[in-house]
Amino acid sequence: TRVYVLNGPNLGRLGRREPEVYGSLSYADLVELCRRTAEELGLAAEVRQTDSEAELIGWLHEAADARLPVVINPAAFTHYSYAVRDALAMVEAPVIEVHISNPHAREPFRHTSVVSPVVTGTIAGLGLDSYRLALLALAALLARE
Ligand code: DQA
Repeated sequence: TRVYVLNGPNLGRLGRREPEVYGSLSYADLVELCRRTAEELGLAAEVRQTDSEAELIGWLHEAADARLPVVINPAAFTHYSYAVRDALAMVEAPVIEVHISNPHAREPFRHTSVVSPVVTGTIAGLGLDSYRLALLALAALLARE
């Protein structure tokens, strides 16, 4: 089964970006980790990153049309993009929202997720393991269907 792993703005700079918050592994490491984990679970992960809200929304339209499950780290869009939220609401397959850090332990503006109400579940605060656990959750949900 194909699944999308979609990453929002600034996540392409993992490893160089606030390493005390996001760790020292790079975006390339994240891609590798997701592909490997998915494969172990019998899934094929298509991992993408964009700094553009429009591009991210286009990918969500693709996922909706192809009925693909999605792991998404919307990054800062999490906190204010009603457009990303509305696009996610069209995805009928399971969607897991992930965060590397724990947004609830950080600045108040990060305590709100406008996407959480339209996703299947959320995993946050576990570093890159958040993605591994999200893929595991997707595999479990798909096996149940
Ligand atoms: C993030 C948390 C967001 O608040 C932040 O804007 C990000 C990354 C995370 O993965 O911890 O860019 O989604």
